[in-house]
Amino acid sequence: MTPTEQSRLASEICRLAPVVPVLVLDDLAHAKPLAEALVKGGLPALEVTLRTACALDAIRAMAEVPGGMVGAGTLLTPADVKAAKAAGAKFGVSPGATERLLDACAEYELPLLPGAATASEIMALLEKGYTVQKFFPAEQAGGAPYLKSIGSPIPQVSFCPTGGISLKNARDYLGLKNILCVGGSWVAPKDAMAKGDWAAITALAAEAAALR
Ligand code: 3PG
Repeated sequence: MTPTEQSRLASEICRLAPVVPVLVLDDLAHAKPLAEALVKGGLPALEVTLRTACALDAIRAMAEVPGGMVGAGTLLTPADVKAAKAAGAKFGVSPGATERLLDACAEYELPLLPGAATASEIMALLEKGYTVQKFFPAEQAGGAPYLKSIGSPIPQVSFCPTGGISLKNARDYLGLKNILCVGGSWVAPKDAMAKGDWAAITALAAEAAALR
């Protein structure tokens, strides 16, 4: 799958809702009710980070939830890409981009939202055909003002910024022309998951879905 095709699909996924939940699952039993709660609240695109032991099984479980579009985050290696695809991930997200990772996404046909944080990184990905990128870590790397500035010389790249974004500052990003959506973990707080308070998570998702 070419980078251009990957970006076309990534763009469609990023346009499903203003927020992509970034999920860190410690308990596989949470996967299905969590996905159902987020989809019910209006957030269909879900990023499950490959940072916990149950992440791949969580993707498998969430991929069955009607209305969801489940992807794998924290892709670092070709092995991660292969495993994510096998688990049923429909897209991938990475904090940065390496040649080996990009080659693996082409080989395994996993649309990637590759991470970038500087003008040169953004340009290097654009040269390959990636017109949709993750900006990470968003707040720490310059936030919305930085992305607004990047949009002047490089308007052909659109972003999903992630890192330090919450209900408080999401609108600063979503108001920019070069932002398709934002990513964030605030819609799935650990304490609500631990308590099985799925209604609270649906309420957070609905609030996030109404941001735009
Ligand atoms: C991450 O990869 O952890 C994401 O950037 C989420 O960041 P957040 O927890 O600050 O939303």
